[in-house]
Amino acid sequence: MGKGFYISKTVGVAGIVLGAGALATIIALSVVYSQEKSKNENEVKPTGAVTTSVPTTAPSNEPWDKWRLPQTLSPQTYNVTLWPRLEPDPTLLYIFTGMSSVVFRCVEKTNLILIHSNKLNMTKQPTLKALGSKPAPTIESIVMHTKTQYMAIHLKEELTAGESYELYTEFVGELADDLEGFYRSEYYENGVKKVVATTQMQATYARKAFPCFDEPAMKAVFHITLYHDPATVALSNGVVTDEVNITVDGTLVTRTTFAATKVMSTYLLAFIISDFGFIEQNIDKLQIRIFARQEAISAGQGDYALNVTGPILKFFEEYYNVPYPLPKSDQIALPDFNAGAMENWGLITYRETALLYDKEISSNGNKERIVTVIAHELAHQWFGNLVTLRWWNDLWLNEGFASYVEYLGADKAEPNWNIKDLIVLNDVHRVFAIDALASSHPLSSKEEEVQRPEQISEVFDTISYSKGASVLRMLSDFLTETVFTQGITTYLNHFEFNNTVYTDLWHHLQQAVDRTGTDLPKTVQEIMDRWVLQMGFPVVTIDTTTGQITQEHFLLDPESKPTRTSEFNYEWFVPISWTKKDTAMPLYWLLKKTDQSNDMKISADEWVLANINVTGYYRVNYDNNNWEHLLNVLQNSRQSIPVINRAQLIDDAFNLAKAGIIETTLALKTTLFLNLETEYMPWEAALDNLDYFYLMFDRTEVYGPMQKYVGGKVKDLFDYFKRITNWEDVPDGHTDQYNQINALRVACSTGNEECKTLIKEWFQMWMDNPNVNPIKANLRSTVYCSAIAAGGETEWNFAWEMFGNATIASEKDKLRAAMACATEPWLLNRYLKYTLDPEKIRKQDATSTIIYIASNVVGQGLAWDFVRANWEYIFKQYGGGSFSFSNLINGVTKRFSTQFELQQLIQFKDDNAHIGFGSGTLAIQQSIERTNANIKWVEKNQKAVLDWFRNNS
Ligand SMILES: *[C@@H]1O[C@H](CO)[C@@H](O)[C@H](O)[C@H]1NC(C)=O
Ligand SMILES: *[C@@H]1O[C@H](CO)[C@@H](O)[C@H](O)[C@H]1NC(C)=O
Ligand SMILES: *[C@@H]1O[C@H](CO)[C@@H](O)[C@H](O)[C@H]1NC(C)=O
Ligand SMILES: *[C@@H]1O[C@H](CO)[C@@H](O)[C@H](O)[C@H]1NC(C)=O
Ligand SMILES: *[C@@H]1O[C@H](CO)[C@@H](O)[C@H](O)[C@H]1NC(C)=O
Ligand SMILES: [Zn+2]
Repeated sequence: MGKGFYISKTVGVAGIVLGAGALATIIALSVVYSQEKSKNENEVKPTGAVTTSVPTTAPSNEPWDKWRLPQTLSPQTYNVTLWPRLEPDPTLLYIFTGMSSVVFRCVEKTNLILIHSNKLNMTKQPTLKALGSKPAPTIESIVMHTKTQYMAIHLKEELTAGESYELYTEFVGELADDLEGFYRSEYYENGVKKVVATTQMQATYARKAFPCFDEPAMKAVFHITLYHDPATVALSNGVVTDEVNITVDGTLVTRTTFAATKVMSTYLLAFIISDFGFIEQNIDKLQIRIFARQEAISAGQGDYALNVTGPILKFFEEYYNVPYPLPKSDQIALPDFNAGAMENWGLITYRETALLYDKEISSNGNKERIVTVIAHELAHQWFGNLVTLRWWNDLWLNEGFASYVEYLGADKAEPNWNIKDLIVLNDVHRVFAIDALASSHPLSSKEEEVQRPEQISEVFDTISYSKGASVLRMLSDFLTETVFTQGITTYLNHFEFNNTVYTDLWHHLQQAVDRTGTDLPKTVQEIMDRWVLQMGFPVVTIDTTTGQITQEHFLLDPESKPTRTSEFNYEWFVPISWTKKDTAMPLYWLLKKTDQSNDMKISADEWVLANINVTGYYRVNYDNNNWEHLLNVLQNSRQSIPVINRAQLIDDAFNLAKAGIIETTLALKTTLFLNLETEYMPWEAALDNLDYFYLMFDRTEVYGPMQKYVGGKVKDLFDYFKRITNWEDVPDGHTDQYNQINALRVACSTGNEECKTLIKEWFQMWMDNPNVNPIKANLRSTVYCSAIAAGGETEWNFAWEMFGNATIASEKDKLRAAMACATEPWLLNRYLKYTLDPEKIRKQDATSTIIYIASNVVGQGLAWDFVRANWEYIFKQYGGGSFSFSNLINGVTKRFSTQFELQQLIQFKDDNAHIGFGSGTLAIQQSIERTNANIKWVEKNQKAVLDWFRNNS
């Protein structure tokens, strides 16, 4: 999946009565539902005509009580026919009906068929056919296990090993708006409500669309057929092979049949019915199409995606040295979509903001998101889809890999952007902050630890994505890209259409190392075990007066103790790239806790800089002399330090200070040169870190002097961009465009009058003539936020109206974020209420909106009160199985820095223990740890920070 807020809602179907006029009739079946009242509240009542007796207290080691399928059966092919109804039935329920047959081979004799099925009602007695010479066993009973999501078919006789059988089912399911499995998305076009039927199968929702062996290693071939209104288009993973109009139950429908898929996992399936438009392009024999709402397509919003897809696909064919495995590539933007995007094989689904672009309205940030998400999902078409990790515990390799190579793919499409550099800010620095907590966790987890659907959801976190990307980038760097891609190629070829564990990749990389005679101090596996099996990362300290090099587990709170032990004692094999002054030195491997390098012992006029371009996943500290020297270089000849390392020096220094390793004032000194700096990366690193100071101090006396200091630094940047753009032109460089936004945003937020006047005028011009928005696309987020913060009800209501009228989702998102900038509490409280009304704020956007409000100093307390007051409702409505809860909890508590707030947090944890926190469980722990660290940090630093800002502004 692509990155993004991941929200889900479980809609209980129990209690909704299917009326007499329903399209499908539920017939009396000999299907019983297991009695799991004690374990599961979502239990469904028996449908009647129950003939079999089921032990009410089954021992818990029965196969159907386990979360993993037994290895007795192996699916080969499925024929699935689905018919979603895009109009509600008389009881206002949206449903789909389906028929499915699965051919499976019996690997080990058994009298039990265990197959996943969740929230599906069987409408006909399932049947079993033998495909070999022996007759099929008779079905004794069928039991639905709602908790473990199985249909268990008990047989009177045994299935024979080596023989194949075919199981046939007919069923009905709800086409709910729950963003999981086969679900519906709604939108308005020309005032008319439209419904789309679409899917999200990852990780465990294919079983909600049809009965299937729903594990990634249970690969099979799928023959898909969809019934739909003739006025709509049906899409699936394969190309269309047949389309006929037929009459079923008195309804005229189009029956669209798709070519058999390649051997693939269930979580990569997709079925979509819509009346969307599309644009297409053929590259060689490959058909590339972009689908979206008709209005979006006719407005040209799919053009950018179409333009970049071809080059990115071509790039990955070269990078992997493996041809694209399918005959077509469809990509579709959906109005309601949980994740950022989903890499379904041949039919990739996106949030609208991750695919649709408008030259006039979208910013360069929107454009970057589109090109990187497309590259991420296309990368999965090989890595993940062609070759798939065996189980979800190895998800980090799948997601980490795609999150790394997305930058390489995007770089191919936008070669002038220097986009590869941005992984340092977007992934490495971001995940450092989490991985430095004692409650972090290793990349790799054991298969047994990731069993239940909510445990599987929990592994889709920043560690998997961003740390995964960071350590793979480091690996590719020290192996060299040539050796790295050689290993990838043989890995893909060897395991195509099959499954792997992460060490299979290490073996193929090792073979490439051996074949090319690459010089490594240890094997690939030995080196990578240290980064994959233990959490966290080291801080490497170089003492340039003695040449001593030491590593230590970097913890943000120096008094915290890691929550788990490590077999490697929190030591790593660290590749250290470095320069002496601006001369590159050979790669140095730190293989033990402390070592000695005479090269790194330097004379008085020299300096050392390590971790060049931050290709290594570690922080660096130096002796005081070298720090002073580096500060000097920043002030006087900063060009001798690569731009990424200028950002690194700031980020490392601030974090080392936070951990109590260096003085906070030394960290602050790394920002002194910023009035000279016009590059984005150092500025962004500084602003990110000063953000923490704002969070801790914006309610204290430090605020004034800090504003004055930051305002002074940004003034030069503001004047620079005024000079080169006059706020009319768009700077040439991609990151310069970002820094232009920073200049405006920070100047206004620190009270620059010229800036405030500009923004006020622009927004007023727009309010005077709502049909013509005069604000430059890149600057909109900032201008909207500042104008709404400075304004009152009129500005807010205007923004709300424009939010309703916006024709592109990225514009809606900017307004949605900006409305959280309001400074009147009642406006924010009203907005908080809107977040739980799906008619006002789409469900996919609820948590991120609450987090936006919490980021506002005025909104912080309101959002926290709101979440506390509504926890039970939010938790029940928005499901227990997604990681949006961890974002939500981390988001609303990030400013916490007092004993009082800590007490409230602990109280919140206790009060809601009976309801639970789902995928936010770890986040509660992390928030408590973070609050503790904040309290200590503020106590220790407030005075020194206040003095420093007073003296330097
Ligand atoms: C599945 O569908 C394919 C193509 O429509 C057909 O050839 C095959 O016989 C079907 N198999 C079963 C088991 O129904
Ligand atoms: C499935 O059966 C349950 C129990 O009878 C019922 O409440 C539910 O509405 C049914 N679902 C559908 C989609 O028909
Ligand atoms: C099916 O019917 C629709 C509308 O009546 C028509 O536009 C379409 O061409 C027909 N498709 C086929 C394959 O006959
Ligand atoms: C797509 O490519 C065409 C042809 O190169 C170009 O004219 C057009 O501006 C591009 N569209 C976008 C949105 O980048
Ligand atoms: C998949 O890989 C396993 C283990 O490497 C191997 O035993 C099996 O034969 C492979 N299956 C296929 C279909 O290639
Ligand atoms: Zn992904």
